[in-house]
Amino acid sequence: MTTATPTKPAGLEGIIAGDSDICAVNQTSLIYRGYEIADLAANATFEEVAFLLLVGHKPTAAELDAFKKELIHERAIPDHARDVIKRCALGDGMHPMDVLRTGVSYLAQFDKDCQDNSPEAELRKAKRLLAKIPTIIGHMQNVIDGRDFVLPDKEMGHAANLLYMMTGRKPTQAEAHIVDVSLILYAEHDFNASTFTSRVIAGTLSDMHGCVTGAIAALKGPLHGGANEMAMELLREIGTLDNVEEFMDNAFTTKRKIMGFGHRVYKNGDHRAGILHKLGRAYADDKGGEPLKWFEIGEKVQSIMETQKNIKPNVDFPCGMTYYALGIPVPQYTPIFVASRITGWCAHVMEQHKNNRLIRPLSHYTGPELRKWNG
Ligand code: SDX
Repeated sequence: MTTATPTKPAGLEGIIAGDSDICAVNQTSLIYRGYEIADLAANATFEEVAFLLLVGHKPTAAELDAFKKELIHERAIPDHARDVIKRCALGDGMHPMDVLRTGVSYLAQFDKDCQDNSPEAELRKAKRLLAKIPTIIGHMQNVIDGRDFVLPDKEMGHAANLLYMMTGRKPTQAEAHIVDVSLILYAEHDFNASTFTSRVIAGTLSDMHGCVTGAIAALKGPLHGGANEMAMELLREIGTLDNVEEFMDNAFTTKRKIMGFGHRVYKNGDHRAGILHKLGRAYADDKGGEPLKWFEIGEKVQSIMETQKNIKPNVDFPCGMTYYALGIPVPQYTPIFVASRITGWCAHVMEQHKNNRLIRPLSHYTGPELRKWNG
């Protein structure tokens, strides 16, 4: 029997599982490589933050220009990959996160660097994945909508092109900016479940596409990235402002989890939630009608959660209302989370490979005492 002392907190709560110089998640701040999230959201673009996470420093103007050009060049995916996405997207039980997971795994076969874990090859793969994931998402939505494939637009920035490929409509500058900030907010969050999944896979010296495939599967879960979709579905289930109080009373009675609220680490609120809520609410105020209705319902839900349960929203709650106001299909909310978090995942895979040690914790055995098979 193991003599190790069992990790009492379930889910490794509060356990520091390793060092990382990528991100610090604290009660008082969220920092990406030394830059505070509110500073990045207000003053950087997603392409700049992606470079910061993947390369390790703020890009010079020349570095940023080259990085953007490389991402634009890598956006296209081969025809046969489009066929695979189409086949998956038409599948009966398909969920967009499964289609995305399959698309990433399929593309691995055609990446000449796939089996190469060197820093140079992994940075090339990270940029290809960052560039191609929006194309997989866009093509998937085109199939769902029964429209021809909307091909990447070389003139558009990363966030604008992501919106354009899903909807076929060129977004306004305001719409593209909101998505750009949401991608910055979602990009990285230290050892969250999907990132830690990617590091466990990287720790066996497996390849980056395999790490990302596992991370996508982890992020899909409603307790993790899938919460942004579930948060919007919850508001749609409530339906009207008048229904909120009765719905919440019933939810508390039945101990129902309110999606988009609570956090394993943040106990005084998620630093990202207020930033996105403010942007989304301003857009909804401008639009009025349906977009504004969901923010009014959401704010009443939030007020009840905070006053009656002292549980605050995480970034997924404002994300649901904001993406809905932008007309983004609900099932694409978590895939868009992937389009952002691919930067954090790849940064962690590269960090793990740079100074690797197999990640292999112990379990505390609670099964039957030693016994004989033949009695
Ligand atoms: C993300 O880790 C990261 O960094 C993740 C993330 C990232 O950027 O990578 O931030 C992204 O995943 C955000 C979280 C998205 N998930 C949700 O919104 C799902 C709803 N939230 C909960 O399931 C919950 O808050 C978790 C899973 C997020 C955290 O759960 P914990 O730390 O395991 O806490 P818990 O479930 O043990 O809750 C403690 C208490 C419980 O009450 P009691 O049973 O002790 O009476 O708080 C209650 C819970 O019931 N509670 C909630 C609640 N969250 C906690 N009650 C109702 N609704 C909720 N949302």
